[in-house]
Amino acid sequence: MNFKDKIVIVTGAGQGIGRCIALAYAAEGAKVIIAELDSLSAAETLMLIKKSDWYAEAILTDVGDPDDITELFHTINEKYGRVDILINNTGISVTKSLYDLSIEEWDRILNVNLRGIFLCSREAAKLMRKRKKGSIVNIASTRAFMSEPDTEAYSASKGGIVALTHSLAASLSEDGIQVNCISPGWIDTGKFGELREIDHKQHLSGRVGTVDDIARACLYLTDESNNFINGTNLIIDGGMTKKMIYEE
Ligand SMILES: NC(=O)c1ccc[n+]([C@@H]2O[C@H](COP(=O)([O-])OP(=O)(O)OC[C@H]3O[C@@H](n4cnc5c(N)ncnc54)[C@H](O)[C@@H]3O)[C@@H](O)[C@H]2O)c1
Repeated sequence: MNFKDKIVIVTGAGQGIGRCIALAYAAEGAKVIIAELDSLSAAETLMLIKKSDWYAEAILTDVGDPDDITELFHTINEKYGRVDILINNTGISVTKSLYDLSIEEWDRILNVNLRGIFLCSREAAKLMRKRKKGSIVNIASTRAFMSEPDTEAYSASKGGIVALTHSLAASLSEDGIQVNCISPGWIDTGKFGELREIDHKQHLSGRVGTVDDIARACLYLTDESNNFINGTNLIIDGGMTKKMIYEE
């Protein structure tokens, strides 16, 4: 793998999976752009990267706002003149009865999670196509394929990401741009509190996922020697969606 001096954009890199992805590329010598809505968490990720003498820059961005996305890529083009890798990681959700979910809530989730990926990918592709290469990874979810109640907007956005991924891969292939997505299962980012034995046991792998599980997959998919992997969805869930459950 050679990511030295590659320009890598990670959206939603202020915490959780995105932060770990940003750190992983920075550790490989990439120049990481943290495209994050929250200034405090963006500054923390930036500090963590710089503390190790790696390279990163934070650009405050709301991927739900088309103007912010245009501005993000304009700034990157002015400063770096190219984009090598885009990781569309940002995702928001709300758990709410379909009868109570407002149109504004539905639109916000779809606009951040799905439209944001379309617009970021389009802006990135405008720069990548000039050099006839680039790699995009979208973070979907196993909730594209299975659901708990009251998660319509999130699930719809994630299902959309899987379809958008192969559509983009088809359209951008003539410009040498590879597009894949990852569907994480349960990944511990600290926000679920203390994990129980039962939480680990519902996975074939015997454990809940870690942010590193997803970051390593991003490196794998964007490694140039893996460019035969295209338009696909990589499920990383410790086998949770393959485990048949009969309650006795
Ligand atoms: N953690 C899991 O178990 C899990 C499982 C499946 C899929 N995912 C997906 O992985 C991705 C990361 O998940 P996470 O758990 O690390 O999330 P998280 O909520 O911990 O972090 C998301 C980050 O995105 C930022 N963000 C929110 N709205 C934004 C916007 N409009 N523009 C830019 N940044 C914004 C937040 O400030 C935050 O830093 C998401 O797409 C999520 O849907 C997570």
